[in-house]
Parts: sequence; C-alpha cells; structure tokens
Amino acid sequence: MKKLSAAMLSMVLAGSMLLTGCGGNNTNAQAGADTGAAEGGTLRMGTNAAFPPYEFMDENNQVAGIDAEIAAAIADKLGMELQITDMAFDSLIPALQSDTIDIVLAGMTVTEERAESVDFTDSYSTGVQVIIVPEGSPITTPDDLAGKTIGVQSGTTGDIYCTGDYGQENVKQFENGAMAVAALANGQVDCVVIDNEPAKAFVAANEGLVILDTEYITEDYAAAVNKGNTELLDKVNAAMAALKEDGTIDAIVGKYITAA
Ligand code: ARG
Repeated sequence: MKKLSAAMLSMVLAGSMLLTGCGGNNTNAQAGADTGAAEGGTLRMGTNAAFPPYEFMDENNQVAGIDAEIAAAIADKLGMELQITDMAFDSLIPALQSDTIDIVLAGMTVTEERAESVDFTDSYSTGVQVIIVPEGSPITTPDDLAGKTIGVQSGTTGDIYCTGDYGQENVKQFENGAMAVAALANGQVDCVVIDNEPAKAFVAANEGLVILDTEYITEDYAAAVNKGNTELLDKVNAAMAALKEDGTIDAIVGKYITAA
C-alpha cells in the first residue's frame, strides 16, 4: 500500500503559490489590479475550495482564503493574471498533467509519491493531520483507530495514511472534508482524519465534536506545478521567497490563523 512515513512526508517541499483567488465552481478569471491583459500572461491555478481557511467559497462565490491570497500575491509579483478553478482534490494532479491548469495551491502536502508526478515549490505552511471524534468517544489516541470506521476526504494524505495504517475496508472516502464531518455528526463514521486548520473550522460549525490532542502526522504544504515545468517553478519560488522575506506570507497566514 502506499503508506508514507512521517519522515518521507517531511521531506519537503515546495510550493508555489498562486495568485489571487476568485473562482467559482468553475473557472473564474480574476482581473488583477491592472486593467487590460496582464503582460506576464495568465496563471491558471487549481484548488479544491472546501478547505477553510486555506480555500473556501466566500459570500460572492469566489475562492477566498490563504492559498488564494498567496497566489494573488505571487501572480502580482510575476505580472500575471490569476485564474482559479475549483475542482475535486483528486483531480488536481491530473489537471496539472493534462495542462488544464499551471499550478496547484490547495493545502497540498508534499509527499514522495506526489513528487514523482509533480514538482513542488518551496513550502509555505505546515499542516498536521488530526483526529475528530464525537465528545465522549472511546477513541482517544491514534492507537484506538484500529477497527474503527474512519472518514476522510478522498485522495488526501489523511486517506492515504489511514488506508495504509488501518486498511481500505475501514476507511470511508468523502468528496470533501465537510461531508466527512457531516457523516461523523450523523454517526456514519467513528472519526474523521483531516488537516488541523479545516478541522477547527468544521468542529466550530458542528456541535458535539472534538479534536484529539494527540496529533497523527505533521506535514508541509507547497504549491505544485507539472513535472519539468522548471521555468514556472523557479519564478514562483523566487516570488515566494520575496513574499516570505517582506512578511507578506506571514501577514496572509496571520489573517486567517491566530496563535500558530
Ligand atoms: N493536506 C492534505 C493533502 O495534501 C489535504 C489537502 C486538502 N486540500 C483541499 N483543498 N481540499 O492531501
């Protein structure tokens, strides 16, 4: 199976960022600050906008959140127009490979296996896989997951690790994290394994759920481009480095995540 060790996962990353976000369920071109065609061309970003606070649909049905803002800042630096397309998480890498999009910013974890298909930028954030359970659940640590029904978002690292550690038959895949959490609230699964920041948002929106203190796995988030697209990779890494240096990335993350 594809069990990844924590060491592999922390292998790092890359990531790039994207541009700003807009985007509806389909592709939304976001006009940049400039009017008229962007000299640097269009940066087509793919994401899965059901992963707050990294990406979510705002009240205007535009993709908002940390990744959208970082991508916007990168596009701005590169003089490009950002266009964001919302799609299923497990369609993102195929979309890069088929040249439907140029870059992914989706709270995507750097893994060795994904790095065989895509090139990751430098990492811009850290995530932790955590376990959500109903209050009073007999599950109190990852060791208690054996034999339990675990809800995950399909194709995510939570899915990959749990399938490897506990067996496919014990893992129920959902289209997004919110659906997995709804199934937990309804008693259809015993727990949900998902990234910590979306976990906090989902728990806040659903009464009677808690996040276990024991973390499952720590990982690095990065942007991804198609394998071999070094031109874009280098540009994005350079833009990202400048945005880290001048505090832009910290400011964007700090806007959405307090007390990192
Ligand atoms: N960090 C996890 C992974 O890379 C989950 C990411 C899910 N992201 C999303 N936008 N739905 O597999």
